[in-house]
Amino acid sequence: MIVFTPAFNQKWLVLLLALMALTLAVLYPLLKSSFIGNIFPEKRWHCYKDLTANERVVCRPLCSKGQFSLPGMSSCHPWLTCDDFLNIFPQKLLVKSVVKKVIQAKWKSYVVVMSSLASSHYQEDFKHHLKMLQSWSGNSLIIQLLGFCNDTIITEFYKLGSALNVWTLMNKQLRKYDSLIKRLNLCISYINIIKFLHFSPNGTRVMCDSNSLEKTLSQFLLQPDLHLVLNDLDALPEVKPESGKKIKCGHVELMGDFIAPEQRWPYPDLLFDDNEMPGYDEKTDIWKVPNVCNWFLEDDDNSEFLKLKLFKIHKQCKHLNASLRPTAQEVFQEYERVLQELL
Ligand SMILES: *[C@@H]1O[C@H](CO)[C@@H](O)[C@H](O)[C@H]1NC(C)=O
Ligand SMILES: *[C@@H]1O[C@H](CO)[C@@H](O)[C@H](O)[C@H]1NC(C)=O
Ligand SMILES: *[C@@H]1O[C@H](CO)[C@@H](O)[C@H](O)[C@H]1NC(C)=O
Repeated sequence: MIVFTPAFNQKWLVLLLALMALTLAVLYPLLKSSFIGNIFPEKRWHCYKDLTANERVVCRPLCSKGQFSLPGMSSCHPWLTCDDFLNIFPQKLLVKSVVKKVIQAKWKSYVVVMSSLASSHYQEDFKHHLKMLQSWSGNSLIIQLLGFCNDTIITEFYKLGSALNVWTLMNKQLRKYDSLIKRLNLCISYINIIKFLHFSPNGTRVMCDSNSLEKTLSQFLLQPDLHLVLNDLDALPEVKPESGKKIKCGHVELMGDFIAPEQRWPYPDLLFDDNEMPGYDEKTDIWKVPNVCNWFLEDDDNSEFLKLKLFKIHKQCKHLNASLRPTAQEVFQEYERVLQELL
């Protein structure tokens, strides 16, 4: 006969518990991936530190195609449709151009942005923009599509505005975050988006809305963690390296200091003729990278030594022969390497 003394009892109990724990530990991953996983799909989040709010961590769930989420939402919402437009209230005009009218608006408690086609002349560009937004929605490098109806697109609102505001922010509101590392991170964020465009699932795309530094910077919005997102997908023609298909950014003569040499009319003695103007490829974007990055770095007393570290790669970007310029991937890697040296 077994005598259950208190000491004996305790030993068995501990053993039993240990055994149960072990069984659970072994079975849990299996259960999670099959059974439990199907009932409670694991939610993935996109989180960032809001530098305008003492680095408060802001999260929103990651969504699949056809859905969106905004900070504070606990689940994804289907793209807004014409029916939802009854609940979207325009508040103020942000931008008015020949192509579109951009209005800040309110949907529920959220600030959103409405972009409406201003003239049917630009219908094609507008449709292209929407198609790209739909294709790339969910990518954190691209502005988030919230919905559309007829000739109006709803996107996420970015309170810090465009990359043109970087200097002002670094000197005022975000002064305590101003550092060479933060500024180099803006260069990295920029080349990361160019890299995405050049190696996108929809082919090699060229950033054509970039005839001046201001125009280029205005195409990017600032997240509250000072990462960039691409705002405007109107003018991203595709080059096909396999078939040798090149592109041209528009049909008029391009001028100014900022454009790449191959974007210039090559026969100064003749009048510009679009039919005679040779095409070019995504390396025009690479030519412009040093100007954009140096602009982010400028205005900082210590930027000279960092510009020196970037001198070699930036010189390669300025190769007159476009095919000898580095790829976006190579520039990205070099920026990352220099960042590691600074850390
Ligand atoms: C969208 O277009 C349809 C058809 O032209 C029109 O009836 C509807 O009112 C439009 N919706 C909005 C929100 O503009
Ligand atoms: C981009 O590629 C995806 C997947 O291949 C495709 O479904 C989508 O229609 C493409 N979008 C554009 C704008 O070509
Ligand atoms: C540019 O470089 C490539 C590769 O070295 C070469 O094949 C091509 O001829 C060069 N083009 C010009 C205009 O020098």
